[in-house]
Amino acid sequence: MQPSIAQILKMSPSSDPVVVNGWVRTKRTSKNVAFIAVNDGSTILNIQAVADLEGGAITEAMLTDVTTGAAVRITGNLVPSQGSGQAVELKAQKIEVLGAADPEKYPLQPKKHSLEFLREIAHLRFRTNTFGAMFRIRHAMAFAIHKFFNDRGFFYVHTPIITGSDCEGAGAMFRVTTLDPKNPPLNEDGSVDFSKDFFGKSTNLTVSGQLEGELAAMSLGRIYTFGPTFRAENSNTSRHAAEFWMIEPEVAFADLTDNMDLAEEFLKYLVRYALDNCKDDLEFFDKRLAEEEKTKKQEERSEMGLLQKLHFMLENKFERVTYTEAFEILKNSTPNKKKKFQYPVDTWGIDLQSEHERYLVEKHFKKPTILTDYPKEIKAFYMRLNDDGKTVRAMDVLAPGIGEIIGGSQREERYDMLKKKIEEFKIPEESMWWYLETRKYGTAVHSGFGLGFDRFLMFVTGMGNIRDTAPFPRTTGSAEF
Ligand code: 4AD
Ligand code: MG
Repeated sequence: MQPSIAQILKMSPSSDPVVVNGWVRTKRTSKNVAFIAVNDGSTILNIQAVADLEGGAITEAMLTDVTTGAAVRITGNLVPSQGSGQAVELKAQKIEVLGAADPEKYPLQPKKHSLEFLREIAHLRFRTNTFGAMFRIRHAMAFAIHKFFNDRGFFYVHTPIITGSDCEGAGAMFRVTTLDPKNPPLNEDGSVDFSKDFFGKSTNLTVSGQLEGELAAMSLGRIYTFGPTFRAENSNTSRHAAEFWMIEPEVAFADLTDNMDLAEEFLKYLVRYALDNCKDDLEFFDKRLAEEEKTKKQEERSEMGLLQKLHFMLENKFERVTYTEAFEILKNSTPNKKKKFQYPVDTWGIDLQSEHERYLVEKHFKKPTILTDYPKEIKAFYMRLNDDGKTVRAMDVLAPGIGEIIGGSQREERYDMLKKKIEEFKIPEESMWWYLETRKYGTAVHSGFGLGFDRFLMFVTGMGNIRDTAPFPRTTGSAEF
């Protein structure tokens, strides 16, 4: 394999031949010299190839097909750069066009395209600076996640994608079936007879690997899952996807405080890793966000730049408050009194919206914030009930600019309490026998959480829409590519 442009740009000038493979970003000709900027995806930086068109082996006619988007192989040697922004540039001796890109038709012109337009050409948007940077960072974060857990003795568990249970109880699931939709087998009462389906029961794509993750943690001790999850919630927001990746650690013998400590250490580790390893790409996103902010109205502008936001997460001890305390703060807040919130904060027990979460983080505490002990009615069945009988040992981690990025809890480890909760939530007990049994045989305190990977990437890159964090996003009405 020939070296990548990222590797070549670190080399010193020399007369040794170097081969550059990549796609043309721009070509400019002036006074018999052609300047070709080439990118191969290994870095946001282009290498500049300079071709002397007078008397050399390269003529202008040979460069007809060297247009934006064409795949090229350029052979030459590295010389100190005259002004390409890099230390070195390539003095070209031979240029081959491996694959032309008709300039009349190639959709990516060397100009700024809207993110909406780029979503329609997701097969090509990898070639833009924005998406190159996004997917390099996405990779780096996935790698750092495995490293974080591996270094701390956690085991990576693959939980199933097809399940028969609804972990979050929201009922927003995609059915998995091989039954004929036009002529399914029916029960006597006219309902579909799923006992005749492929798995002999009704099954769905998983919304979370947690329940199975708990089973593994109650034996391996510390585990994490990292895989795709699916939610058929028809919420067309910038923060919800129908398919997203989630990281779910689960730790035996850990309580909610341990869980909060782990979540805080985890997020800080990832942000530190990004700052240390994705410098060029983050600086690009920092500038990009600053440009975008300029187009907004004064009052809608974010007070912090991207790099500032990342340092904000790194350098602040996360604030930890209960739902009840947060509710009081929000109820008495100026925007609530002035009716500036879209959802008024009036009665204890309401679910908090992202506008409330952002107010707490950005305006009130000015720190990343963890809210705990939510009303049991608005949280999932598996969370441990507090002695007040009204709240559960839940935690949501809130980040600036986004709101909730982590949801987690201490789990209900008491058999009778869990059984009662399952009844209260009208979950068929026979579908949960295996989960209940872990509370019968050697039960113990345990806790875990889920970090939405795509939502976390919105935070790290400052991108405003989850559709721009996944290579091929799946959202309501959209499954092209
Ligand atoms: O808060 P959630 O629903 O928690 C769980 O699924 C638990 N089983 C996690 C656990 O305790 N092991 O989801 C966790 C996170 C959210 O905080 C959010 O970041 C992300 O997953 N998330 C979504 N991301 C994108 N699109 C959606 N539709 C999402 N729903 C949740
Ligand atoms: Mg949640």
